[in-house]
Amino acid sequence: MTSQKIKFGLVGCGRISSRHIAALAAFRENAVLTCVCDLIADRAAIKAAEYIREASCRGKGSIMKPRIYLNLDDMLENEDIDVLSICTPSGLHPIHGIKAAGKHIHVLTEKPMGIDLPSADKLIKACEENEVRLFVMMQNRLNSTVRLLKRSMDKGRFGRIHMLLSNVLWQRPQSYYDQAPWRGTWEMDGGAFCNQAIHYVDMLQWLGGPVETAAALTGTLGRQIEAEDTGSAVIRYKSGAIGSLNVTMLTFPRNVEGSISVLGEKGTVKIGGMALNRIEKWEFETSDDDDLLAAESCYEPADVYGYGHTAYYSNVLDVLGGKAEPCADGPEGRKSLELVCAIYRSAREGEVVFLPDDSINHIDSSIYMTR
Ligand SMILES: NC(=O)c1ccc[n+]([C@@H]2O[C@H](COP(=O)([O-])OP(=O)(O)OC[C@H]3O[C@@H](n4cnc5c(N)ncnc54)[C@H](O)[C@@H]3O)[C@@H](O)[C@H]2O)c1
Repeated sequence: MTSQKIKFGLVGCGRISSRHIAALAAFRENAVLTCVCDLIADRAAIKAAEYIREASCRGKGSIMKPRIYLNLDDMLENEDIDVLSICTPSGLHPIHGIKAAGKHIHVLTEKPMGIDLPSADKLIKACEENEVRLFVMMQNRLNSTVRLLKRSMDKGRFGRIHMLLSNVLWQRPQSYYDQAPWRGTWEMDGGAFCNQAIHYVDMLQWLGGPVETAAALTGTLGRQIEAEDTGSAVIRYKSGAIGSLNVTMLTFPRNVEGSISVLGEKGTVKIGGMALNRIEKWEFETSDDDDLLAAESCYEPADVYGYGHTAYYSNVLDVLGGKAEPCADGPEGRKSLELVCAIYRSAREGEVVFLPDDSINHIDSSIYMTR
C-alpha cells in the first residue's frame, strides 16, 4: 500500500546516490522513492531505472518509476514527499535542506552537512522551526565493529582514555577529482579532511568526547586541486586525552587503511581494515561477553563506503516511525564540521584553535589560494 509508505525524493544522482537507492529498495515494504532530481537528465533517468531494478529484486509487486525532475524547486512544488535525500555537492546541502524544510519535508543530507558553520546552523534552525527531522549521513557509526567499540567505551571498560589515533591513508587519483568540477574546491567541497576523512573526524569526536583545542598542518602535495590532499591534526579533548588524525589521498598504490585506535589505562582497541571494518586489536584488563563478538563483528566491504547506508536508512525509518532516536541528527552532524573548520583555521593561521571558536565561519578560499 504505497500510501502508508514513507515517501522519499532524492536530489543529486551521482556516485553516492546508488547507496541511497539500494537502501530504499531494501526497505521497499516501508518506504518508496517517488521522485529523483538532477541537473543532468540522463543521470536522473539512470537512477530512476536503477531503483526499479533494485526494488524489483527485493520483493513482490510492481514498483512505480520515480518521476524525474531537473530542478529541485519544481520537484518540491509538485511532489508530496515526506523526506528529501540530499546527494548533491557538499556546499549545496544547506541550501537544498532549507528548501525542503520550508515545505515541511524531513531532511536526510549526505555528509558533511555543509562546508561552513553559519549555513549548517541555518539548516538546523530551518528544520527546528518547521518541526522536521534533520538526519546527517554518518553511516560508519553503525558499522558492527564501531558499535562494539562504542559499547565498550560506554561501559567504561577502558578506564581513563589517554589517546585516540586515526589514519585515513587512501588513494584518490587526479581522475577522481577531475570527474566533477566541485571536487577539491573550497566553495563546494573542501579537501581530504572535509570530504574523505569526515567520518574519521566524526569518530574522534563521537568516541572521544568534546574537543578543547585543535592544531593542524595541511598540504596540497600531489593533486591539482584548491584544497588539501594531505594533512595531520592533533587535538586535546576536554577530558585531557590527546587525539591525532593523519590523512592523505596520495597513498601508493591504493587505499591501505582507514583506522581508529583507542588507548586507555585498562584497554586497547584498534579498528582498521580499509574502512573501519576489521578489529585488529581488542584487549582489556577484565573480560566481558562482548569479547566473544570482536571477531565476528568484522566484515569485508566492497569499497570504502561500506554497507552503512542501509543501516542508516533503517534508523531513519525507525525514527520517523517513533521507534528510535536518530543515529546522527543536525547538532551531531555539526560537531564533525566544527572540528574540520577548526583544523582548517589552525592550518591556515598556524595557531592552536580553541573550541568553540566563534571566528570559524566560512572556509575562506581567498586565503588558501594565495598559499
Ligand atoms: N557517506 C559517504 O560515505 C559518502 C561517500 C561519497 C560521497 N558522499 C557525499 O555525497 C555528496 C555527493 O557526492 P558524489 O560523489 O555522489 O558526487 P557526484 O558529483 O557524483 O554527484 C553529485 C550530483 O549532484 C548533481 N547536482 C549538482 N547540483 C545540483 C542541483 N542544484 N540540483 C540537482 N542536482 C545537482 C550533479 O549533477 C551530480 O549528478 C557529497 O556531499 C559527498 O561528500 C558521501
